[in-house]
Amino acid sequence: MSGNIDNLLHETRRFAPSQSFQASAVATADLYERAADDRPAFWGEQSRELLYWHTPFTTTLNWSNPPFAQWFEDGELNVAYNCLDRHVLAGNGDRIALYWEGEPGDSATYTYAELTAEVKKAATVLLSLGISRGDRVAIYLPMIPEAVISMLAVARIGAIHSVVFGGFSAESLRARIDDAQAKLVITADGGWRKGKVSSLKPAVDDSLTIGGEENPSTVEHVLVVKRGGNDVAWVDGRDLWWHDQIAEAETEHEAQPFPAETPLFILYTSGTTGKPKGILHTSGGYLTQAAFTHKNVFDLHPETDVYWSTADVGWITGHTYVVYGPLANGATQVIYEGTPDSPHTGRWWEIIEKYGVTILYAAPTAIRTFMKLGRHIPDEFDLTSLRLLGSVGEPINPEAWVWYRDVIGGGTTPVVDTWWQTETGGIMISALPGVTTLKPGSAQVALPGIHIEVLDDRGEPVGKNSGGLLVVAEPWPAMLRGIWGDPDRFIETYWSTFDGKYFAGDGARLDRDGDVWLLGRVDDVMNVSGHRLSTAEIESSLVSHPRVAEAAVVGASDETTGQAVVAFVIVRADEGGEVVVTADDPSVDTSALAAELRGHVASQIGAIARPRQVFIVAELPKTRSGKIMRRLLRDVAEGREIGDTTTLADTQVMSIISGTVG
Ligand code: WT7
Repeated sequence: MSGNIDNLLHETRRFAPSQSFQASAVATADLYERAADDRPAFWGEQSRELLYWHTPFTTTLNWSNPPFAQWFEDGELNVAYNCLDRHVLAGNGDRIALYWEGEPGDSATYTYAELTAEVKKAATVLLSLGISRGDRVAIYLPMIPEAVISMLAVARIGAIHSVVFGGFSAESLRARIDDAQAKLVITADGGWRKGKVSSLKPAVDDSLTIGGEENPSTVEHVLVVKRGGNDVAWVDGRDLWWHDQIAEAETEHEAQPFPAETPLFILYTSGTTGKPKGILHTSGGYLTQAAFTHKNVFDLHPETDVYWSTADVGWITGHTYVVYGPLANGATQVIYEGTPDSPHTGRWWEIIEKYGVTILYAAPTAIRTFMKLGRHIPDEFDLTSLRLLGSVGEPINPEAWVWYRDVIGGGTTPVVDTWWQTETGGIMISALPGVTTLKPGSAQVALPGIHIEVLDDRGEPVGKNSGGLLVVAEPWPAMLRGIWGDPDRFIETYWSTFDGKYFAGDGARLDRDGDVWLLGRVDDVMNVSGHRLSTAEIESSLVSHPRVAEAAVVGASDETTGQAVVAFVIVRADEGGEVVVTADDPSVDTSALAAELRGHVASQIGAIARPRQVFIVAELPKTRSGKIMRRLLRDVAEGREIGDTTTLADTQVMSIISGTVG
């Protein structure tokens, strides 16, 4: 890591905003001073300007019971009304809200008027199924318009959605359903991925029967969108077709105002333990920051821009920068169902040309993949409509940043590297296009109204030219309001490292200008292709396999995916049998077993968690107190010389492991 950062800090390329960009830029430099004068008042101003409040708020921040913040608490609004009805009422009903592109090449468009009408019908369907304010609805859908419609319909009636990424397994889905006690699941028969239909409904069926009759779920109904056309099993009374329900639905639904702190959604994310955390977000503050950041960081001109975030709604980027931010701002956007390489590797660029996309928001992993494939692929398409590029999810190395700007952005577009988290709800650190001189590889500066610090172990600011731990020192509107059902874990995870400050779990360095360079997680959380995975969760999946005695998982750096999951396991000779003491025990077919274990993790958690490699070893490096020294395993996984082993209980162990692996 330190080698990397030294290279990064030698990065001297700078890109000042062009005059032409600056001339019509949305963001202005005075935002910083205005925010610094009075942070809560600044957010109040932004909120009044960007949102419609049925009942205007009279207070901004209530921080009397930290870390439980309340923003705009006496105000009332309806999130879906803000994303839909008000744009229609303002005369923009004919503006395109969604250009949807299916993977096989089918497509659909929805104007704001049409999207509003669909959400009204879906809201009345939810009400007819007995969903009311505060109830939890799990959404397990591909990237189809119904995903957006479902989320907004849930929000419209004051219920709470929990979107579960379609790549997660039946077990992961069930764990999330149980934790939130969801009454309804909205799913599809299947969706298109990599040229074929990938089923979803069977995973819902499986998830709801886990544990048999003694373990009933809280789910009363499963609402099924027909998309894949694949055959599905049916439980009469429980399962309902979306299209049947919508066909019979009432078409009028008046959005009711709800208090600003009404829960909007729960989104599960991995932490340092085996159990995912249900991150809770509420309405007024969240929507304020979503709209403000979407408008200013992406330089949104809603009348002319065509915006595209390639994120799935299963992740926070899909919540804040596909659904809530863009729609609150009345933007026109593209959503795409499939993978970037189906049916050909130019698919993204073809979509940009087709719709005239002006703003693209994507992850470094994808950019590095395209870089490897070569510029002749994007060069075949007309990408001249693009005028702004965004990056999110993991650090973007300067080479990829410059390639993104040169090859995709025609050498002229600003690139904004945006740092934030599921927990922060919205972007926290980013350049402002038209204002900031860009530095490839750095997320740069805290947004107006956001107070970021980099601290040493004792909680002292490190100052320029030094590294430390990244914290948010003041409450912000889109901050998580807690972990669903677990206030103690909320306090312990984020607020106990530094008194009164939010600890993000990331390391960071300030350069000589005070700009922020992200260094990755400092806890046992991995970042694979911009998705967060927990070492503990994958370890516990591995040890649930009858042949595994012990497991240790590390995130090893990977050229394309940022990090990759690498597992080290100690196995038994047969199910429940003796632990194999040497890895070259002839009774064990290590390559077959490694393949089986990779598959086991994929089926238990989801394909994103499938280890890149599983090494079968005889020992794991542990301290005298029994803690696994992941640092040493990372050295092995990354093919480096092994670091300091003096604190190991058995100092021989590493030479044995590297002998096995090497
Ligand atoms: C973690 C949050 C934010 C939406 C996608 C991921 C890493 C995120 C950046 C960036 C360096 C980044 C951090 C953070 N991360 N954006 N621009 N530069 N690192 O959301 O799953 O909640 O993960 O992603 O490590 O803590 P998430």
